[in-house]
Amino acid sequence: MLLFSGYTEGRDLCTFRTGGQIRYFGEIRKKEDIKDALDFSETAKLPLIAIGEGSNLIFGDGLLNVIVLKMNIKGIETTGKGTDSLDITAGAGVNWDSLVEYTIKAGLSGLEALSAIPGSVGASPVQNIGAYGCEAADTIVSVEVFDRTDGMFKIIPCAECRFGYRDSIFKKEGKGRYIITSVTFRLSKYPPPIPQYPDIIDFFRVKGQSAPSLGEIREAITTIRWSKLPDPATLPNAGSFFKNPVVDAETGRRIKMEYPDARVFPLDESRVKIAAGWLIEKAGYKGLSFGKISVYDKNALILVNNGGANHADLTAARGSISESVMEKFGIILEQEPDEVI
Ligand code: EPU
Repeated sequence: MLLFSGYTEGRDLCTFRTGGQIRYFGEIRKKEDIKDALDFSETAKLPLIAIGEGSNLIFGDGLLNVIVLKMNIKGIETTGKGTDSLDITAGAGVNWDSLVEYTIKAGLSGLEALSAIPGSVGASPVQNIGAYGCEAADTIVSVEVFDRTDGMFKIIPCAECRFGYRDSIFKKEGKGRYIITSVTFRLSKYPPPIPQYPDIIDFFRVKGQSAPSLGEIREAITTIRWSKLPDPATLPNAGSFFKNPVVDAETGRRIKMEYPDARVFPLDESRVKIAAGWLIEKAGYKGLSFGKISVYDKNALILVNNGGANHADLTAARGSISESVMEKFGIILEQEPDEVI
């Protein structure tokens, strides 16, 4: 029988550490518990929200009339064997970096560039986590879900997950419908390539290493990552606060003409991606504070909670940043973390 606690502090359930009280909170440790949670939601007439470790999540202030379910289904197992690959299935509640560590110890390549990303396995397909030129979608074979429309467990193959840049079906049409219970990844038995991202290429060039091991790549990524991103355990944050905007090539050219140092990356013939961190820094916001919220001084893409900030402080900060970037560059910034308000 699944038990719920009443009036749980939202700030204890997310790494940004803001938020009011959650009306009901429960933890799902096995798949069967989900049905209990649905019954409870129907009786209480309150919406259900499934979360992982809360590292890409913002809660609003005051009383939030929702039932929050922390997905805590554990377990990692080998579920498929190919000549060159192994399929590994991990429960939604497995810590993401523990899975990466497990695969590296097993000599499997595919997740090493995603080392040290906070959060859980179940959250990885939702925003299609990505870093250093790789994203979860590159290795995901399928996602197991509980479908709330018919009460069945289903396997959604990668091709039907509609993965995009920090995007998937689970953020759009499937939001609220699917509860992710496990994810299967196909990992390679071959030696890893060096992730093709400037910081990583430079790191190994300086060291004179052309064929680093999985462990060495993991170590490099972890070091580079933590030099740019604040540890949520000591400085609460939700990772990148904005997505890198994708704009038409003409806008990219215009910005590059005006600002030759602009970080503009071609995507295809008609679109470019612009580094949001650069836009925010150029708009003069790096290191600025709005009450208890600051733009991180080493990386303008991150907002940090200096302690005791609430959702209203955050609204003021993001409003001011977005407006300035719009005014200066004519570009709309889109928030990256999910929000429950
Ligand atoms: N930049 C600035 N000023 C800043 C921050 C960045 O000029 O204050 C410039 C950098 O110099 C660089 C460019 O912007 O030329 C890109 O910066 P970086 O390599 O740090 O990556 P990012 O685009 O800011 C993305 C992901 C991160 C991921 C890194 C590494 C998004 C929204 N963010 O950040 O993901 O770790 O690439 O691959 O796509 C996350 O999603 O939470 C996250 C941390």
